[in-house]
Amino acid sequence: MRNQAMPKHLYIETVGCQMNMLDSELVVAELRRRGYELVDRPAAADAILFNTCSVREHAEEKIYSALGRLKHLKRRHPEKIIGVLGCMAQNHQRQVFERAPYVDLVVGPGQLHQVPELIERIHAGAGQQMEVSLDRKAGGREAVAESFESYDPLRTPEMRPSPYQAYVRIQIGCDKFCTYCIVPKVRGPEQARPPQHIVAEARQLVSEGCREVILLGQTVNSYRFVAGERTTRLSDLLAQLSEIDGLDRLKFVTNYPRDMTDDLIQAVRDLPKCARYLHVPAQSGSDDVLKRMKRGYTIGDYREMHARIRQMIPDATVTSDFIVGFCGETEEEFQLSVDLVRECRFKNSFIFKYSERPGTKGAELYPDDVPEDVKRRRNNELLAVQNAICEEDLQLRLGRTFDVLVEGWSKSAQKHGHHGPSGQLTGRTMWDHIVVFEGNERLIGQIVPITIYDASAHTLFGTVVTNEVGPEVYSLSASWPTTPQQADCNVAGIPARSTGV
Ligand code: SAH
Ligand code: SF4
Ligand code: F3S
Repeated sequence: MRNQAMPKHLYIETVGCQMNMLDSELVVAELRRRGYELVDRPAAADAILFNTCSVREHAEEKIYSALGRLKHLKRRHPEKIIGVLGCMAQNHQRQVFERAPYVDLVVGPGQLHQVPELIERIHAGAGQQMEVSLDRKAGGREAVAESFESYDPLRTPEMRPSPYQAYVRIQIGCDKFCTYCIVPKVRGPEQARPPQHIVAEARQLVSEGCREVILLGQTVNSYRFVAGERTTRLSDLLAQLSEIDGLDRLKFVTNYPRDMTDDLIQAVRDLPKCARYLHVPAQSGSDDVLKRMKRGYTIGDYREMHARIRQMIPDATVTSDFIVGFCGETEEEFQLSVDLVRECRFKNSFIFKYSERPGTKGAELYPDDVPEDVKRRRNNELLAVQNAICEEDLQLRLGRTFDVLVEGWSKSAQKHGHHGPSGQLTGRTMWDHIVVFEGNERLIGQIVPITIYDASAHTLFGTVVTNEVGPEVYSLSASWPTTPQQADCNVAGIPARSTGV
């Protein structure tokens, strides 16, 4: 035990989806408020936290490996606090202590508000601490839902990854129970956040300089908040948020195909602040596989939805997720996914090899019988088809000018350093295309017209438009700061990412 009130240096590693990125940001914000400073190495930290993901086995194993590497550090410095937060904490609970006995803290995603107190308790000598939410079968829906608390404290601009963009949670949990998916177990029942809280948070963010808000939910377009006679849908919420002066761009992820209703597509079409970009995962192109996945729609339904988007917003970009090698997937069934990618010409697809998740219906009902090498081959094949489409799609944009929200230095500028106030910058268009260009650092956070002169598989290259009477600008601009999915995923062309917040 130390005499000091609190340790002061914090190291955090985050894997998983945007929901986890946001959770980490909020935990960091809270701990900073209590006097912690972020450091970039576990060895320099008093508290070492991992915010974890359970969506695939690989994501979990990665965390256990990282914990394994800390064993010696903890032996030499027992006063350092090691914590496992997030979805794997909820999924494995005490098992985390069994596999890594030197872990001090296990906190599920519905209990994150307790992190500072728990750290203090450990620090005061109380020993290992664990706070998780109720198991989905451990009580009535109300009780279980109550045990998953949405964690949305206020943050200040310097605590966000970019002062110009922010995630805002509008929904927690999921009730869809797709047979392969662990999310309903680890994130609990679907619950909508009250619209007035969401709007107030967005206003606060905008008053601090935020220009783009990305609304988060596992099935974000299923959002529905009922208060008395009044029901607020996502389309209503977008309209309310659009009225905030100074907010320039609005996005939302991830959409569930069956809930892609006309009112929502119309809202995206008619509200100029909404991105012309929709992430609506199909998961498979085969009806039989979709049935085994219990996705709740047929490929005919998906096609019909996709056609409605195309008809109402002809220039919209649509992206998808696919799982290859799901239980019993035959070659013919896999080829139907290839056909769907060709037919829908997704802007991008995130492709995952099926990973059996203990505790899901899929694991209980079907054997994981597609061999690993077949999964890998299908993954590569689908990725190759998607990549060719990405490239063709980007080529079509050469010579055009787009408004780009400049997010910061490009990856290359960050890696190699930039000299002086100019260098390679990066941003996104309203259609979620990444644009890289040379510019002055004062452009960061601005919306700037950029003319495209080249494209690689996943990036557009352009130059800032300087002439006063410029070319026609495709000015519906929007950006999406990260990939929509997991840090450990095989994303079409986007490298695996592990984010320290
Ligand atoms: N709520 C979102 C996705 C959440 S998980 C939705 O419904 O679309 C993100 C993606 O991970 C899923 O779209 C799916 O493609 C993939 N995924 C989920 N469980 C998986 C598993 N067991 N194995 C492989 N990929 C999985
Ligand atoms: Fe998982 Fe399906 Fe819910 Fe998405 S909709 S989080 S894939 S159960
Ligand atoms: Fe949790 Fe997101 Fe992973 S909800 S299981 S961190 S994909």
